[in-house]
Amino acid sequence: MKLQGKVAVITGGARGIGLAIGARYVAEGATVFLADRDVEEAVKAAAALGPQAQGIALDVTDAASIEAMVKAVITQVGGIDILVNNAAVFDMGPVLEVTEKSIDFLFAVNVKGLFLCLQAVARQMVAQGRGGKIINMASQAGRRGEALVSIYCATKAAVISLTQSAGLDLIKHRINVNGIAPGVVDTPMWDEVDALFARYENRPLGEKKRLVGEAVPYGRMGSPEDHTGAAVFLASADADYVVAQTLNVDGGNWMS
Ligand SMILES: NC(=O)c1ccc[n+]([C@@H]2O[C@H](COP(=O)([O-])OP(=O)(O)OC[C@H]3O[C@@H](n4cnc5c(N)ncnc54)[C@H](O)[C@@H]3O)[C@@H](O)[C@H]2O)c1
Repeated sequence: MKLQGKVAVITGGARGIGLAIGARYVAEGATVFLADRDVEEAVKAAAALGPQAQGIALDVTDAASIEAMVKAVITQVGGIDILVNNAAVFDMGPVLEVTEKSIDFLFAVNVKGLFLCLQAVARQMVAQGRGGKIINMASQAGRRGEALVSIYCATKAAVISLTQSAGLDLIKHRINVNGIAPGVVDTPMWDEVDALFARYENRPLGEKKRLVGEAVPYGRMGSPEDHTGAAVFLASADADYVVAQTLNVDGGNWMS
């Protein structure tokens, strides 16, 4: 077991990729906090993972909520070794139709919220004095713009950039900040994506999802579980010398 005795916080851990990583971390011996805006789902999901996991309330757009979450975890288990900065939201539309509300919402969750979680947990890790691992969930969308996905792509490019800067700044504390860039993953988020493509590209529901899956060099969409190996590696001592990188886990969609 690669994460025996470690404490991990996973934002957006109630479902999708975050939940799959939580399940794998439990199997690797970690104590896991699934921190989510949807606390009811997080508690339910954690119960299914057993006594090493628990759900906890977190809204990454609210600095007080982030502080409260960190404090609650510390009070309970004394420290945090791993943060998976995974919570995010999606929206899309043609450039001429993007609203200010959508821009503010996506940046508030995907960029500012991610940074504030990183900062709050990194402060705790520095105080603990034993280093740590922070994994930011980026996306292939951060590697390249898309005509209908300008703002989400920009938020994910920002995640890759923040991973580089924070990685460089925090490694002196032996805190490794790295990222994972998934491609197309079959989660509840992609059901929302598919419905939006159906609207903007005038397609039947499900068609876009089928097409993007067929286009992956591996031959199918990713599953949440496809990302858990990389998440264990980056959280483990095996990745001590990996700094400020974003690893593509996308079936071959992107090379960089
Ligand atoms: N699904 C994909 O194809 C795909 C591809 C590339 C990258 N990603 C990234 O992977 C990560 C997980 O994606 P997913 O598909 O599992 O998403 P999902 O929508 O299925 O799950 C996201 C979780 O984040 C939570 N969340 C949203 N806003 C929050 C907030 N303000 N505070 C706390 N929690 C909040 C939601 O309640 C939900 O449980 C995201 O960062 C996403 O951008 C996903």
